[in-house]
Amino acid sequence: MTGPECAIDMSTTYLGLRLRSPIVASSSPLTGDPSRWEALEAAGAGAIVLPSLFEEQIEREAYAFDMGRAFGADDSAESSSYLPDLDRYDTGASRHLALVELARERLSIPVIASLNGTSPGGWVHYARSLVSAGAHAIELNIYDVAVDPWASASDVEHRYLELVEDVRAEVRVPVAVKLGPWFTSLAHFAIALEHMGVDGLVLFNRFYQPDIDLDTLDLTPRLQLSTSSEARLPLHWIGILRGLVSCSLAGTSGVHDGADALKLLLAGADVAMTASAVLRHGPEQIATMLSWMREWMTARDYVSIDQLKGSVSRHNVPDPEVYARANYYQVLHSAWA
Ligand SMILES: Cc1cc2nc3c(=O)[nH]c(=O)nc-3n(C[C@H](O)[C@H](O)[C@H](O)COP(=O)(O)O)c2cc1C
Repeated sequence: MTGPECAIDMSTTYLGLRLRSPIVASSSPLTGDPSRWEALEAAGAGAIVLPSLFEEQIEREAYAFDMGRAFGADDSAESSSYLPDLDRYDTGASRHLALVELARERLSIPVIASLNGTSPGGWVHYARSLVSAGAHAIELNIYDVAVDPWASASDVEHRYLELVEDVRAEVRVPVAVKLGPWFTSLAHFAIALEHMGVDGLVLFNRFYQPDIDLDTLDLTPRLQLSTSSEARLPLHWIGILRGLVSCSLAGTSGVHDGADALKLLLAGADVAMTASAVLRHGPEQIATMLSWMREWMTARDYVSIDQLKGSVSRHNVPDPEVYARANYYQVLHSAWA
């Protein structure tokens, strides 16, 4: 690269790790395929998050495998050509730990291991194993649908806080928590997680609702890739949380181009994570995002990512109410004015 763009410092700090760029390859079958690692690194990814180690899968339930299958069945031939062989996607703990070891050996960017546990002991046990295998950091992927009518919102939050506390006490590397958006008082819960020692929040997990097959009346898992419009939800909450918590914030869901990533950073994210875009267009999409961001920054005399991070967060805008209630009225009325 030549010209003023090359003088821009694209590095950022996430989970206490200095990353060379703010675009992180989010957990997906692509990050679980060693043959794609070189391309992800060459495209400028700041770090990669490996596919989750699923405790239930170790017990022979193929959760991620089914998600991958549903995705493969639904999408276009073009995008499926970027998919790794889903039959080999993440089967068993030892294979997964070997993947972490291999990623550490082969990659020069940080390797974040992801874990989806089902039992309190399981979260701790596998978190320890992932760290022993060489993970620079752990992402706890809390993918849970609160279907128990006897468990209150605070029971659910308490359970998560306990599991974070248990993992935190056992591992010395940074720990991030990947959450869904459906918490009654997310700001309160985010602060509680930070007090529990969490180093970062990954917002938001994308939940996959089942569909009904009208021929068989079966419930079928259905996974569709995201669109850019989905980035508005993490953008909103990251903008609110930046300034309330001092831990790292990662935006995930709907990051497809440089503009999506940049907006999350302006709202206060330390990194923007992307999965659907690299599954659809290949790892090179990260280079395209970064190049667009550099151009935008050059045109506005920004010299570094650190300089712009959080500058449009709730704490930094002249009218913080746009992040809260006032936005509702304005949005409804702006559409038909
Ligand atoms: C096929 C597929 C598999 C995924 N597997 C995982 C996983 O193992 N663990 C995880 O935390 N997220 C997983 N995700 C979620 C992504 O990491 C990401 O958070 C989500 O797709 C939203 O980002 P996007 O809009 O860039 O796709 C998966 C996503 C896809 C599309």
